[in-house]
Amino acid sequence: MRKPLDDTALDVLFRQARTQNGWLDVPVSDDQLRALYDVMRLGPTSANCCPARLVFLRTPEAKARLLPALSPGNVDKTKAAPVTTIIGYDTRFFELLPKLFPHRPEMAQNFANNAALAQTTAVRNGTLQGAYFMMAARALGLDVGGMSGFDNAKVDAEFFPDGRIKSNFLCNVGHGDPSKVLPRLPRLDWSEACTLL
Ligand SMILES: Cc1cc2nc3c(=O)[nH]c(=O)nc-3n(C[C@H](O)[C@H](O)[C@H](O)COP(=O)(O)O)c2cc1C
Repeated sequence: MRKPLDDTALDVLFRQARTQNGWLDVPVSDDQLRALYDVMRLGPTSANCCPARLVFLRTPEAKARLLPALSPGNVDKTKAAPVTTIIGYDTRFFELLPKLFPHRPEMAQNFANNAALAQTTAVRNGTLQGAYFMMAARALGLDVGGMSGFDNAKVDAEFFPDGRIKSNFLCNVGHGDPSKVLPRLPRLDWSEACTLL
């Protein structure tokens, strides 16, 4: 049986991990982003469908295309972040199932024939992969700040004009400025969120 992770690992991943609102002037390399993807992509998805698609904005020019879509409160932190990631999902993810789920290639047809199922599956698993992204970044020594305060339609028009990929949420990546972290908010107690049956 495997042992639980030690306290240091749990602190890095959960207990001391905080959403970042400001960023140190420390770059994130393309190799770090590749290492991050290599880890996050191993997180589980239903039928191994892997619908998440990522766009990494690393330059002022690339960021400038995103800024008009952001809520005002998200502009400065996005400008300051070394990398802003658009976490989207492929609405036609099922076309890749012959590669991703080769022992049952006919699964693709189930989704092709059922738009509602395909949409639910893409959003559910794309969101899970977004969470894996954040945890993988933290595991690799990076900090993150998720953002849903933006206009999805504007982002989709700018970055995914053919309509196949849809944005889900954004995630700044870098090394956070501890002075900009907000006080930790309460979480629900066990009795508020959990039921033992
Ligand atoms: C998907 C997602 C979207 C978020 N959107 C925003 C946002 O638009 N603007 C913002 O300032 N914070 C945003 N946050 C940060 C949350 O408010 C923050 O994670 C939460 O308050 C918990 O803070 P903590 O992670 O430091 O404990 C978002 C977080 C996630 C995971």
